[in-house]
Amino acid sequence: MDRDDFIPELHTGKDYKDVLGELSRLVSCRRYLEIGVSGGDNFQAITCLEGIGVDPYFALSCNVAAGKRRIYLYQTSSDKFFAKNKFKLMFSRIDLAFLDGMHLYEFLLRDFMNTEAVCRKDSIIAMHDCLPLNDIMISRDMQQAAVESEALPFRHWWTGDVWKLIPILKKYRPDLELDFLNCYPTGLVVVRGLNPRSRILRRNYTSIISEFDAVPNDLDSIRTLYRDMKLGDAADFLEAIRGARPNRR
Ligand SMILES: C[S@@+](CC[C@H](N)C(=O)[O-])C[C@H]1O[C@@H](n2cnc3c(N)ncnc32)[C@H](O)[C@@H]1O
Repeated sequence: MDRDDFIPELHTGKDYKDVLGELSRLVSCRRYLEIGVSGGDNFQAITCLEGIGVDPYFALSCNVAAGKRRIYLYQTSSDKFFAKNKFKLMFSRIDLAFLDGMHLYEFLLRDFMNTEAVCRKDSIIAMHDCLPLNDIMISRDMQQAAVESEALPFRHWWTGDVWKLIPILKKYRPDLELDFLNCYPTGLVVVRGLNPRSRILRRNYTSIISEFDAVPNDLDSIRTLYRDMKLGDAADFLEAIRGARPNRR
């Protein structure tokens, strides 16, 4: 099997920030949650009534309040944020969430199950970096990925092993609807058909981690990932959302 059989050379679709910004407007997002905000480039692109951002190390460099009536920024880890705010969020649920915090799959799994619990059935969760392009950016060690990518085209790109969320959700939550989008730079996975009451991931968390720690984090696994999925065009996805929404101009 050649490297190019399945793994794209580059994701050539719309930038993830443009997709999420447009999605927030198409779904008339009221309450938005972003885990991992950093400089706020993506948060700024979102239009909503209330924007909630969580990051233990904010490094804001733009106007994250743009397009929003209220913003709430929590300078803490996502685990601590959910531990403190879960019940409050259950009364004012999230419409659209973007998970882009720690790029290790066990963190993203917890972020996903905690976020789903405070969503509605028709909310949308988008996950970043789950569609890597080589075996250097998937390292669990960000420093190692940085050093090894120094002379390569994807210099300093780090996705970690959050790609494992795809096989985990396919196996344990086949009820979810997953779209795999070719967003620049490292793809976007959009999850719909949520079930905020589901306890499957929570109940099986420890055994899922044992099972997926044993799955190699290597190029063969990434090939299999792409072989088993249908990569969609981000613009087509947005067009389908636009076509399906009720006419509320
Ligand atoms: C790739 S950056 C986010 C970029 C931002 N979402 C965007 O698109 O503009 C990842 C961020 O996740 C944050 N992060 C790391 N560990 C985290 C955790 N446990 N909980 C929440 N955020 C975390 C980092 O501090 C970093 O700022």
